[in-house]
Amino acid sequence: MQAMEQLVSEGMVDYIGVSNFSVKDMREAQGALRHNPIVSNQILYNLRRRSAERDVIPYCRQHNITVIAYSPLAEGSLVGGQRGGLRQALGIGRARSVLDEVAGEVGKTAAQVALNWVADQPDVVAIPKSNSVERTLANCAASGWRLTAEQRQALEHAFPV
Ligand SMILES: NC(=O)c1ccc[n+]([C@@H]2O[C@H](COP(=O)([O-])OP(=O)(O)OC[C@H]3O[C@@H](n4cnc5c(N)ncnc54)[C@H](OP(=O)(O)O)[C@@H]3O)[C@@H](O)[C@H]2O)c1
Repeated sequence: MQAMEQLVSEGMVDYIGVSNFSVKDMREAQGALRHNPIVSNQILYNLRRRSAERDVIPYCRQHNITVIAYSPLAEGSLVGGQRGGLRQALGIGRARSVLDEVAGEVGKTAAQVALNWVADQPDVVAIPKSNSVERTLANCAASGWRLTAEQRQALEHAFPV
């Protein structure tokens, strides 16, 4: 952290962010910083992996640390065209159907709904990856609109923490 502060003072970087830091890690890092805050924590967060909601996300919110959600599509497993058997093996059969239902209701793709669910939370941004320009553009269209509270609830019920 002191080396990071040195880089900021030398103008090499603007801000200090961390990745995969637990609450304990963030506290320790904050304790070592003298002049700069931690501005972001890049963590695994998507509909299928919501454990960060228990502690990391509330802590970040409390300390003005932006959550950068990586693998927001669960590495594609949330939205891939898996067949029934594989879906069941991944434990996402029924949940995926709910995602598809919500997508149908709002006229978006399952990927757009999954990304919107992540990024339409205060102080959370999502960084999906795609090798395809078409999908990248489609993923950009995952923002600028809102799921209803009922739709968010349905998704959260289908993909529990
Ligand atoms: N800090 C860390 O420890 C950490 C760890 C893991 C990842 N990351 C970062 O997080 C970012 C993304 O994470 P990720 O790649 O693991 O997972 P992701 O963004 O959840 O999923 C990427 C997968 O989803 C597919 N995909 C993307 N858009 C899609 C769409 N609209 N419809 C259907 N499939 C779609 C991609 O396939 P195509 O490419 O074929 O479109 C790819 O297979 C990357 O920048 C990565 O560097 C950070």
